[in-house]
Amino acid sequence: MAATQSGNPGPRISRSVKDRAIINRLGFNNEGQEAALSRLKGRAGGIVGVNLGAGRDSSDRIGDYAAGIARMADVASYFTINISSPNTPGLRDLQAPEALATLLRRVQDARAATLRKPPLLVKLAPDLADEDLPEIVRVILSHGADGIIVANTTLSRAGLRDAAFATEEGGMSGRPLFPRATRMLARVFRLAEGKIPLIGVGGIDSGESALAKIEAGASLLQLYTGLVFEGPSLIGRIKQALLAAMAREGYARLTPLIGRRAEEWSERMLKP
Ligand SMILES: Cc1cc2nc3c(=O)[nH]c(=O)nc-3n(C[C@H](O)[C@H](O)[C@H](O)COP(=O)(O)O)c2cc1C
Repeated sequence: MAATQSGNPGPRISRSVKDRAIINRLGFNNEGQEAALSRLKGRAGGIVGVNLGAGRDSSDRIGDYAAGIARMADVASYFTINISSPNTPGLRDLQAPEALATLLRRVQDARAATLRKPPLLVKLAPDLADEDLPEIVRVILSHGADGIIVANTTLSRAGLRDAAFATEEGGMSGRPLFPRATRMLARVFRLAEGKIPLIGVGGIDSGESALAKIEAGASLLQLYTGLVFEGPSLIGRIKQALLAAMAREGYARLTPLIGRRAEEWSERMLKP
């Protein structure tokens, strides 16, 4: 977002220790791109993924993404085109194929005009209908995106045992998101046919769940809520589990494990 916005009124983040889940309705609270840019310019090294979303009251939402690419290209290792946050009303409508095609044309043009041309990844919502996925993936591939991130938080409350927590508004992340996000990852993997890498995200909180994401089709992993409940040592445990899986199978690389259970995951039934 180009402009400062305060986001939704607080409290706007709830956590359930019982369900190992978070519900957030932050609404892109931020100080604007210039503030983010100067902070990022001051940091040393590492991979910086710049996540772009449209401003809540923007009159040109697609223009917000294009402006973000132009402004942040110097500091971005890659861009995430976030059209999947449930906390900005109407944002997820940009996933509709026609709107998505217009958006991707504009952001590709903006990227082409930058010096460094960082990769562009599209981040999808786990609440998309199965029947809408083929066209969405086709549009993403045909517009030269460099990867797909599956998935953002969900409006579903499936899998929650904590009834009071389930009434909170916003996007749910963490362990109960895992089956939904992993099933969708597998479906996107089969549709993308290996043409672009997928980043698996949603409910990773152990070595086992990280391996399952790889086997469902992820080449790379991201996690947020798992770190809240498990702490930073989780990363070491995940690396150990992935190395152990490779050793068990006699592989020197992770590649042969990617997507080997995609068919099984994509046919999985979800609890309502
Ligand atoms: C407090 C909070 C803020 C988030 N903000 C963003 C955001 O600004 N952009 C975005 O694409 N995803 C955002 N997410 C979603 C996460 O990046 C991730 O897709 C989701 O939480 C599922 O992964 P997890 O189960 O590992 O947390 C946020 C999640 C949480 C919990």
